[in-house]
Amino acid sequence: MDISIIGTGHVGLVTGACFADLGNRVMMVDDDRRKIALLKRGGMPFYEPGLEELVRRGVAQRRIRFAASIKDAVDHSLIIFICVGTPARPNGEADLSAVERVCHAIAKSLRAYRLLVEKSTVPVETGEWITRTCQLTIRRGVPFDVASNPEFLREGQAVQDFLHPDRIVLGVESTRAKSLLLELYKPIKSPVIVTDVKSAELIKHASNSFLAVKLSFINTVARLCEQVGADVVKVAEGMGLDRRIGRAFLDAGVGYGGSCFPKDVAAFIRIAEKLGGDFQLLKAAARVNDEQRRHFVTRVRETLWNLNHKTIGVLGLAFKPDTDDLREAPSIDIVRMFQEEGAQVRAFDPKAMAHADGVFPGVAFCKDVYETARGADCLVLLTEWNEFKELDFARLKKLMRHPTVIDGRNVYDPGALRRLGFRYVGTGRGHAPH
Ligand SMILES: NC(=O)c1ccc[n+]([C@@H]2O[C@H](COP(=O)([O-])OP(=O)(O)OC[C@H]3O[C@@H](n4cnc5c(N)ncnc54)[C@H](O)[C@@H]3O)[C@@H](O)[C@H]2O)c1
Repeated sequence: MDISIIGTGHVGLVTGACFADLGNRVMMVDDDRRKIALLKRGGMPFYEPGLEELVRRGVAQRRIRFAASIKDAVDHSLIIFICVGTPARPNGEADLSAVERVCHAIAKSLRAYRLLVEKSTVPVETGEWITRTCQLTIRRGVPFDVASNPEFLREGQAVQDFLHPDRIVLGVESTRAKSLLLELYKPIKSPVIVTDVKSAELIKHASNSFLAVKLSFINTVARLCEQVGADVVKVAEGMGLDRRIGRAFLDAGVGYGGSCFPKDVAAFIRIAEKLGGDFQLLKAAARVNDEQRRHFVTRVRETLWNLNHKTIGVLGLAFKPDTDDLREAPSIDIVRMFQEEGAQVRAFDPKAMAHADGVFPGVAFCKDVYETARGADCLVLLTEWNEFKELDFARLKKLMRHPTVIDGRNVYDPGALRRLGFRYVGTGRGHAPH
């Protein structure tokens, strides 16, 4: 099939590269000329495991092309995926101006039937807005459909998630749109939910919001564990074995971040408000998440007595492992709070430092974990990269001023570290440090 992708970001580039690998001809467009130029030169705008190989193969086999304009893409494809960003406005509402611009551009170029698919995460009823916008611009009589196909991939495992999703959601209003999308997704063997556009839009916001609630729930339980000296890892295990609950998203930590959860939760709260509701549960989840970053800093302070004049080695800056994405990463707030209290921060991240210029003023970036530990009063783990899991702790102990590890992701075995002579402070594991 001939398809096009508007917006070659984390979702668009993965979608395009995977569909190309499944045998489709894919045209990609982005209004960021530097990004397109980089891709044409064979470069990658961000790190995502396995993606570079797919893009290279697609380009070499001429299944991927980078188009100069939306018009080119519309001319050459039957299905057009809108994958542009939908960031939060200051009031939490999703900013749909990029989606609107793209719709105008598509509508102006439409000469024959096309299926427009919203893949960006958008508020319920956006499909209706897209349809109305197109109707105002499109030449009379040119048929089109609008569908919703929300994306559930996770950065860091995006290719795997795209090709083996838990489910494929298709929100359609016509049999033509339904059969085109079913045909396109045929090689992917996953359950397919076919529904109307509004339900599909809601599935995405409801799913991300539910996961955020789960995380804030376990982070609240973690604080209780700290009060009474219990272990949240065991509590999560005990809860998670109940199939009605499930173990996923019950890892206590420094709170969620990234380009999706914070903005999607805020957007869902606004959607409810606009429709006359008050999503108190989600407001609480967002508040708990903000507090969790401050709470972590408090825990570090309580471990070190004062942060002023202390040197803190930070392991991990990206909002999660296997990505270099720093958008809304908890590390940004946490590092700033350390600095505001007078601490010196040294940091290392395997991938995200490439994008960290200007994001972490005053931070000394290090070449590895061991350089980060040199002279540090404590090591603080913020992102659970695999390479941080097995460290040479004997070497670290010699390099640090004080052998203290504060584990924001509960990666280490507290007993093993204590036996090695470390002071270990986990998240929701045992009493508060003082
Ligand atoms: N990142 C994720 O893990 C993820 C997962 C599922 C859904 N989503 C959703 O997918 C959408 C895209 O997210 P992303 O992470 O890929 O964003 P991104 O910022 O990585 O990419 C968006 C791309 O769209 C381009 N763009 C913006 N306006 C444009 C325009 N008018 N014309 C052409 N290109 C334009 C940008 O230059 C950028 O390359 C968002 O709605 C997001 O919520 C993201």
